[in-house]
Amino acid sequence: MTQILVIYESDYGNTEKMAHAAVEGISSVPGAKAVLKKAEEISADDFVASDGVIVGTPVHMGNMDWRVKKMIDTVCSGLWMQDKLNGKVVGIFASGGGFGGAGGGVELTFVSLLNNFAELGMIFVPLPKMTEGYKKGGLHWGPYGRSADEDMNNGGVNSEVLTLMQKHAMHITRTAHALKEQNIFT
Ligand SMILES: Cc1cc2nc3c(=O)[nH]c(=O)nc-3n(C[C@H](O)[C@H](O)[C@H](O)COP(=O)(O)O)c2cc1C
Repeated sequence: MTQILVIYESDYGNTEKMAHAAVEGISSVPGAKAVLKKAEEISADDFVASDGVIVGTPVHMGNMDWRVKKMIDTVCSGLWMQDKLNGKVVGIFASGGGFGGAGGGVELTFVSLLNNFAELGMIFVPLPKMTEGYKKGGLHWGPYGRSADEDMNNGGVNSEVLTLMQKHAMHITRTAHALKEQNIFT
């Protein structure tokens, strides 16, 4: 069984919807199991027991949610000291609603997450543009769900992004499955 841990934080439910879509995608892959938790609930054992991790955050002031960063700085940093995260597969997603057509800082949020996961020795799965739903919510880093339009009218994340989220989670699950028994960093 390949276990994928889906970690997220969410105040208004948008990132949470995307996390649930990820669980659907993982569960559709034969031999895979999803575990869904908020960042504040995560323990070191959750990471150790998982073959791959999908981390989602709302964009907050152009960066990740503080509870996600707290998890990285507390739970993950301890595992970094023990080299326990090396070679584990990771993918990312985000939800934002910034003023203006481009949103506010989602790419910085993604890059900031990746900076942390690279330091932890994890293997990143990107989001190829052929993935179903990419046109409405794709960035090459991962799915981006806009919960509000450029005038800040809040309509919530759309169904195309949720489809994209499912497909992204399937890619990550298959990658984790393929790498599961490999000791890459020895
Ligand atoms: C404190 C705070 C800061 C935010 N900063 C940004 C921002 O910099 N850029 C952006 O695009 N959206 C920003 N937003 C909007 C949220 O990212 C957006 O509403 C998101 O979809 C919320 O996700 P959630 O429903 O999972 O809580 C901010 C929201 C809050 C509460």
